[in-house]
Amino acid sequence: MRIVFALGGSVVCPNDIDEEYISRFSQFALSIARKNTIGIVVGGGKRARDAIKRARLQGSNEVECDYAGIEASRENARRLAEAMGIEEPIPETLREAKQVLETEGIVIMGGTEPGHSTDTVAILLGEYINADMVLKVSDVDGVYDKDPQKFGDAKRYDVLPLSKLEKISLSLSQRAGKYELLDVMAIKILRRSSIKLIVLNGHDLDNLRHAIEGKPFIGTTIQSP
Ligand code: UTP
Repeated sequence: MRIVFALGGSVVCPNDIDEEYISRFSQFALSIARKNTIGIVVGGGKRARDAIKRARLQGSNEVECDYAGIEASRENARRLAEAMGIEEPIPETLREAKQVLETEGIVIMGGTEPGHSTDTVAILLGEYINADMVLKVSDVDGVYDKDPQKFGDAKRYDVLPLSKLEKISLSLSQRAGKYELLDVMAIKILRRSSIKLIVLNGHDLDNLRHAIEGKPFIGTTIQSP
């Protein structure tokens, strides 16, 4: 199979880079890569939020803030690549990433261009390489009807139509460093590509493996139109 991970900054860099998680995820990814072709797009997390905050304080505009976020995500990607024993430079475009993926069977990258999140990069890469699935991996168990950290009675969807995901995403923040669920462009690409997207927690790697292997798992599968 061809699998793309949108590996959220919330799991690799919640406050600082989480070396323990990077090490666990790199072993996991190497084992998945034995039988599959994989792309991993790493988010910026706290590193990106800090860099964007610094840029804003210096009067940077949104594009400049986005570039600060992109750099941070690439830094996190570099860290993961190192842990996985990958020495090649981090691809900066989808074209470069596809080339690496076709020759090496695995590619790790961060952001590409301003105006969207690393989730969009992952979904675009998924579309570009005809991936079987894109896994959006973060620190929440899936998509909920309301914020599970604020509301004890929040319900997680097992399956969610794309139209409903769109509604929920657009009601949340869409600014540099603060895409709370998915950004507009990610939704747009999902609409045209009908690629399979699964949203799930990255801390439980057995659960992640189950989702890949088609076994029962905890998470939300997005139903394409
Ligand atoms: P992330 O994709 O990490 O942001 O990119 P996020 O969704 O806010 O959060 P996490 O990391 O998954 O928790 C960080 C920021 O970098 C810029 C955007 O400003 C984004 O919010 N960025 C990233 C881009 O402009 N283009 C990209 O391709 C990637």
